[in-house]
Amino acid sequence: MIPHSMAQPGLSRQIAELLSAGASALMPVAARLAPGAVLRWALDRMLARAPRALTASERELFGAARASSLRVGNLRVPVWEWGEAGAPRLVFMHGWGGRAADFAHLIRFFAASGYRVSAFDAPGHGAAPGEPCFAGMLEASNVVLRSLGRIQAVVAYDFGAWAYARTAAAGQAQQAVLVAPPADLEPATRAFARRHKLPETLQRRLRQKLAALCGMHDLAEHYAGRRAGLPDATLVVHDLGEPGLPPAHAARIARAWPGGRLFSTAGLSAGALLADRGVAEAIRDFLRGGFEVPQAYPQELESTWSAPDGTRLSVRPMRPGDVDLETRFVRELSPRTRYQRLLGLRKLSAGMIARLCHVDYRRELALVALTETAAGPRLVGVARYVATAGMDATEIALTIADDWQGRGLGSALLGRLVTAARARGVGRLDGITLADNAGMLGLAAKLGFDAAHDAEDSSVLRLSLAL
Ligand SMILES: CC(C)(COP(=O)(O)OP(=O)(O)OC[C@H]1O[C@@H](n2cnc3c(N)ncnc32)[C@H](O)[C@@H]1OP(=O)(O)O)[C@@H](O)C(=O)NCCC(=O)NCCS
Repeated sequence: MIPHSMAQPGLSRQIAELLSAGASALMPVAARLAPGAVLRWALDRMLARAPRALTASERELFGAARASSLRVGNLRVPVWEWGEAGAPRLVFMHGWGGRAADFAHLIRFFAASGYRVSAFDAPGHGAAPGEPCFAGMLEASNVVLRSLGRIQAVVAYDFGAWAYARTAAAGQAQQAVLVAPPADLEPATRAFARRHKLPETLQRRLRQKLAALCGMHDLAEHYAGRRAGLPDATLVVHDLGEPGLPPAHAARIARAWPGGRLFSTAGLSAGALLADRGVAEAIRDFLRGGFEVPQAYPQELESTWSAPDGTRLSVRPMRPGDVDLETRFVRELSPRTRYQRLLGLRKLSAGMIARLCHVDYRRELALVALTETAAGPRLVGVARYVATAGMDATEIALTIADDWQGRGLGSALLGRLVTAARARGVGRLDGITLADNAGMLGLAAKLGFDAAHDAEDSSVLRLSLAL
């Protein structure tokens, strides 16, 4: 195992101390006089992570787990298990400087969703003894994959995905979920170099050293052409604004890994991805075999629509890449429109908004209307159906941006959705609306929907259209 902290004699130690004290103005001189010492300092600094204590609710969660331990090298690392013993097993692998508790939300969610959930702390992380080092993470991943028997899926976060990539052949997980997995070491070393004024040559050497410690330099390339031990399907979860994982890198990983799919959010930090309910639901849908492959995008449903004032809008099926547009659309809705659309039931988290953009075109369809503005496209309306029971019954939802209401767009979008649903073999469209929503009731009547009072709740009406 390679400890992250290295002994530094004499001058090296003094340089390291000065640089650590924030004397980055010294960097150009130090890099020229003692490049080796600067490199050791940089490596040390990049790998160092302050350990995080458990919160009260995490302590409660881990207190309720079935706790055991596994031998990793000459250490014993803690392993926890939740959920029913006979249920399909999920294994969580934390990231560099992380711990099993980073998955607390997902652990609760999946244990309550019928899974048997296992998580561990790698050596030097969380409650595990030892020095934190990538070799320890690898060894722990290896031992866990070998020891836990049949695994339905591995959920790996950050560099946990690298440890899993190196050791996948040790077990046979059917599916993998990689959350914010760095594609390569470039973004991290570049950010570090910029912060500490590290010259380009040392930045390159730092990257090489780190790659040597990890035994790989690129998560996508690592698997090019290999099959042994790989999952059948992989979900890459990432946020479009994450500096450590540019969208193109996430897409590259999804392309390289078998059965790769992407789930993109907008506005969540890497850590927040692990705590968002919408992300948890997206992972669950993936584990259950959901998520249509992108090729199924129904391009034939693309069209245009002209508003009464002559403005031309494009209308097309929603795509995962619309998450930024959809996030802005939802954020700008007035409280009244939100209330009418969501019936006051729940607040949409960033992950839930992202979930709405990842349309499984077999079971659901969402048509969006877009205008061109000086700042780029703007989403101004969405009409959607989702199958509830087989394809016989579907639930519809329709939302128009406040400044576009009453201009005929709702009629146009819902009309096109009805036509598309009919062509796709949907038997019936159902909807629910507040009884005083005159706009929706007028529109639904115009398109031939029946409206009936809900037997249990007089404040809502049930809309229904047989196709
Ligand atoms: C309800 C909603 C989808 C309607 O979309 P829209 O684009 O504003 O509606 P349109 O301009 O296409 O109007 C369609 C028809 O609805 C009726 N209508 C619209 N606004 C109306 C109002 N305030 N009162 C009565 N009827 C109205 C009219 O019959 C109109 O047809 P017409 O223009 O030929 O007379 C939209 O206003 C909206 O998003 N509201 C907030 C969210 C919501 O309520 N969603 C539905 C919940 S299921």
